[in-house]
Amino acid sequence: MGSGHGTLGPPKVVNIEDLRRLAHRRLPRPVFDYLDGGAEDELTLRENTRAFQDIHFRPRGAVVIKEKCDLAVRVLGQELLSPAVLAPVGYSRLMHPGGEVAAAQAAGEAGTAYILSTISGHKLEAVKAATTGPAWYQLYLLGGQGAAEAGIERAQRAGYSALVITVDTPVAGMRERDPRNGMKELLGKSFLAKLPYLLEIMAHPRWLAAFLVDGGMPRLENIVVPGQEPMKLVDVAAALVDAAVTWADLRWIRKVWTGPIVVKGILTAGDARRAVDEGAAAVVVSNHGGRQLDSVSATIRALPEVVSAVHGRTEVLMDGGVRRGSDIVKAICLGARAVLVGRAYAYGLGAAGKAGVTRALEILRADIERTLRLLGCPSVATLDRSYVEVPHAWECQRETN
Ligand code: GLV
Repeated sequence: MGSGHGTLGPPKVVNIEDLRRLAHRRLPRPVFDYLDGGAEDELTLRENTRAFQDIHFRPRGAVVIKEKCDLAVRVLGQELLSPAVLAPVGYSRLMHPGGEVAAAQAAGEAGTAYILSTISGHKLEAVKAATTGPAWYQLYLLGGQGAAEAGIERAQRAGYSALVITVDTPVAGMRERDPRNGMKELLGKSFLAKLPYLLEIMAHPRWLAAFLVDGGMPRLENIVVPGQEPMKLVDVAAALVDAAVTWADLRWIRKVWTGPIVVKGILTAGDARRAVDEGAAAVVVSNHGGRQLDSVSATIRALPEVVSAVHGRTEVLMDGGVRRGSDIVKAICLGARAVLVGRAYAYGLGAAGKAGVTRALEILRADIERTLRLLGCPSVATLDRSYVEVPHAWECQRETN
């Protein structure tokens, strides 16, 4: 899988930003930018990360924790050894041939859950088989209800334990880096159309060799309209327009999927309550990593409103902007049960395949453990609001819709 692409450093990888820099060096620009970029002016993309700085810790001094800190959390009735869950990341197989399989395997070894995106280059059955941890399936209605039902049934048979419905994608956000890099042309068939963009790809021979050995452009094996071939990557953006999920869709989905449903893409009290009323077992406070509607709040900023609105009736998870274990600790202090990380592990995947994902998870784990000790708190389960100070404005919940 591309010699050098399964190894890390030197220089030594110390934090997630180091993995990002390595991925930047090793991936062709269109692939890196697809992962790294956000919508329009990337205001929300940046704000997701920045807003964690508005929260300050309130440590307890002179506390010595003799044992190892306990990082375990219970999510949807399953025990995870870490509160960092792997978020669904589309096109992972382009970042590294191991793709979703490698990421799922690393998640299982770290004792945490892996969420497989519908937009996956590996078959959902192979991904499930690769992990010893819980696996959840994230559903887009790409290809229509028939394709979605077939996907749900396959996921159920394969042993996925939760279904994640993303509700913030009525159309694909305008990620301006992608058209600039010729993403559509590169995914398409016409060699002539690709030509202006190929030099950049050829400047990354190791990535290119690994991609070709892997069989070239992967098909989306989990999106199969009954009687047709699996969907092609190039058709995804157009298909998303007809794939918007409505609350009414949740009702038929619940008839096909018998397990817990997680609604991802909640930013307001109103939507949070609606998701609870529709039977969501958990909600994910998410703005899709700043990739959809630009100028929405940072998720850490939206989290308290959602936590207070659901009032313990459903579990609250969050994602967006997480680059350090201390970010995860802050989110848990504000009421998240666990936190989804996307780019943080995908940079590792792009940098070094499974070894990179493992390193990302190790970095976050060590960060969380150290942060707990510095806070004087023995476990993730005992974190609460008293360990943080948030800006006054955050305390006044907006309940406008
Ligand atoms: C897909 O969901 C993406 O954000 O690219």
